[in-house]
Amino acid sequence: MSGKRTVLVSGGAGYIGSHTAVELINAGYNVVIIDNLSNSESDSVTGVEQITGKKVDFEVVDTCNTERLKQVFDRYEFDSVIHFAAYKAVGESMAEPLKYYQNNLVSFMNIVSLMKEYGRPNILFSSSATVYGDAEHLPVTEDTPRQPATSPYGNTKQIAEDILRDCCRAYAGVNGIALRYFNPIGAHPSALIGELPRGVPNNLVPFITQTAAGIRECLSVFGNDYDTPDGTCLRDYIDVVDLAKAHVAAVDRMTAGKMEENYEIFNIGTGRPVSVLELLTTFEKVNDLKLPYRMTDRRPGDVPAVWAETSRANEVLGWKAEKTLEETLRSAWEWEKKVRNIK
Ligand code: NAD
Ligand code: WQD
Repeated sequence: MSGKRTVLVSGGAGYIGSHTAVELINAGYNVVIIDNLSNSESDSVTGVEQITGKKVDFEVVDTCNTERLKQVFDRYEFDSVIHFAAYKAVGESMAEPLKYYQNNLVSFMNIVSLMKEYGRPNILFSSSATVYGDAEHLPVTEDTPRQPATSPYGNTKQIAEDILRDCCRAYAGVNGIALRYFNPIGAHPSALIGELPRGVPNNLVPFITQTAAGIRECLSVFGNDYDTPDGTCLRDYIDVVDLAKAHVAAVDRMTAGKMEENYEIFNIGTGRPVSVLELLTTFEKVNDLKLPYRMTDRRPGDVPAVWAETSRANEVLGWKAEKTLEETLRSAWEWEKKVRNIK
């Protein structure tokens, strides 16, 4: 091992994991990526290598497979893990809850127990703004009470946060940070990595880019009768490269031994609410195109509005979202064009 520290990135071939691997390498870390490619392609690891000019250690591993995971712990000397590996489709989790509890919780418990067993201290967990549900006060701070989960997916995030908190409390030498991501969007400016949903996208921005590419006929705006300025829902859309950099800041904090408590939570968002209509008109403007869209009924389960209070991440992690919505929506379209071979 060189003087640089090594970070294990589970789910590192995925959307957020691949962008985070790039930023970790840019910051001087070595990364080891493991992924079972259930929702990604190994091309994204190639993209990470192309962007950074560094060869990346990558193994196809299912984090639910304890024996296989042990081989990774035996082979590599990392002291931190960022655990992205999970299923993330809210609707699918309602139809197939066991699939979600099995994958998201077993894989996380495997990671935490091996980190403890091997004396590897630092665990960074991908949590989600979904834990806040329909919050009473906005913006939400990390101390805003979590609402009962409305989907098995959301429940896996709440349970995993609790597992991490309890393990950090009980076991000396186990440190945890949960990052609660708001709505990650956009792609790397190189257009070498980005989000590649399988099938019909559930999330707004991939649906928009696929509509712009002619793959989807028309975007449905789910509800324009909410109690918001233009009637459409408000969200906090965070650029994926900014989000990736928040992971680097969190790993820096853990590896430098700067944590004040051995379990910490940070909201990772911009702090700015953006409506569905604002997002889609901004997309049209910056990319100079017209999107076919229509207003439809509300989507069941959607909260009217949620956005982050980000001062804890700003002050404690020294991290702040930097990209404008315009830049991010340009990068999302550049990535879609690259994938679809559109000039
Ligand atoms: P993604 O599906 O692109 O990435 C997840 C990766 O994990 C995929 O490459 C998948 O193949 C892999 N994976 C899944 N189960 C695995 C297993 N058992 N073993 C090994 N690899 C496995 O999703 P993403 O958007 O990059 O999300 C990353 C993490 O962030 C997830 O935990 C997700 O729940 C969380 N998150 C995502 C969002 C979002 O909107 N994208 C928001 C909040 C939190
Ligand atoms: C954003 C807004 C929709 C699609 C989800 C998960 C959450 C987290 C992030 C993982 C909403 C509207 C959407 C469309 C639309 N993921 N919309 N037409 O629902 O805020 O959060 O992803 O942790 O857990 O629930 O994101 O991108 O689906 O929707 O009008 O075709 O866009 O109603 O207001 P959401 P989203």
